[in-house]
Amino acid sequence: MQAIDQVIKTEKKKVDQKIIDKIDRLRQKSDFTLNSILDSMEYSLSAGGKRIRPIITVKVAEMFKGNLKAAYDLGLALEFIHSYSLIHDDLPAMDDDNYRRGQLSNHKVFGEGMAVLTGDALLTFAFRQLASLNLEPTKIVKIIKLVADKAGFLGMVGGQSLDIRYEDQKIDLDTLMKIHQFKTGALFKAAVLGGAYCASIDQEQEEALDNYAEKLGLLFQITDDILDKTGNYDKMGKPIGSDEELNKSTYVSILGLAKAREKAVKTADKARKALKIFKEAEFLTSLINYILNRDS
Ligand code: IPE
Ligand code: IPE
Ligand code: MG
Ligand code: MG
Ligand code: MG
Repeated sequence: MQAIDQVIKTEKKKVDQKIIDKIDRLRQKSDFTLNSILDSMEYSLSAGGKRIRPIITVKVAEMFKGNLKAAYDLGLALEFIHSYSLIHDDLPAMDDDNYRRGQLSNHKVFGEGMAVLTGDALLTFAFRQLASLNLEPTKIVKIIKLVADKAGFLGMVGGQSLDIRYEDQKIDLDTLMKIHQFKTGALFKAAVLGGAYCASIDQEQEEALDNYAEKLGLLFQITDDILDKTGNYDKMGKPIGSDEELNKSTYVSILGLAKAREKAVKTADKARKALKIFKEAEFLTSLINYILNRDS
């Protein structure tokens, strides 16, 4: 096993456990009549996603010797937001997918209304979690603004709106890159920069990390498009071929598989270059190949 696989496996276990603990605490604190929405939140949260965003946040905070407790809590908030985005993404009004994280999609079990509300609950709770970060108030406010921008209409939600808007339409590669950077790259930026804000970084470092995260997020979505064609359900835990069924513009539909792979390799090179200013960036460097070669 490669070193990075081991690091990610270890960190994923920690994040999984923190999510379980968090849900347990929420159950203890809240009125039992709220159990059904908590069941639905738990169903999607504990289904075992890759947890790549919180892992990145923690490893970036560690790289700059930052506050790791805050980084885990911030990472969890990002995982709540990401999980909400998946619940909504699977709804019949969006991608209409019946499976996610190896089990029935949230709305197939709890119904569409509950799935919408579960997303709302995860999003709002994430900000509650951010407001309680163990950092000085100015840093907390900076992180809240970062996450609001990257998750909202200037980021992920904006990207998802473009994804829907351009369904069934031919678009050029630049437009597709924009959609991918918004819908997926933005949350990767929140994960990388948020981790860095749990430490102290200078302007030059921030710009390099911003550039890295943009390329990494784009790479992640290009490989997601490729895996929607070539992946397998058992590994991905979600339907294969969903993009083609919905006539989505993806790197594969516009470029074909071989050129999409070339684009992924080139994007990985750009991510590597963005890290040049750092003397010590082992995790972030290996993460690029990890994502480039992923099969889940
Ligand atoms: C899926 O994200 C949605 C995209 C942004 C491509 P992940 O592949 O990180 O999903 P999980 O969290 O592992 O389920
Ligand atoms: C969605 O992209 C990205 C999100 C912001 C949720 P996809 O629609 O391609 O994600 P999957 O393939 O369903 O996970
Ligand atoms: Mg989608
Ligand atoms: Mg989808
Ligand atoms: Mg996809």
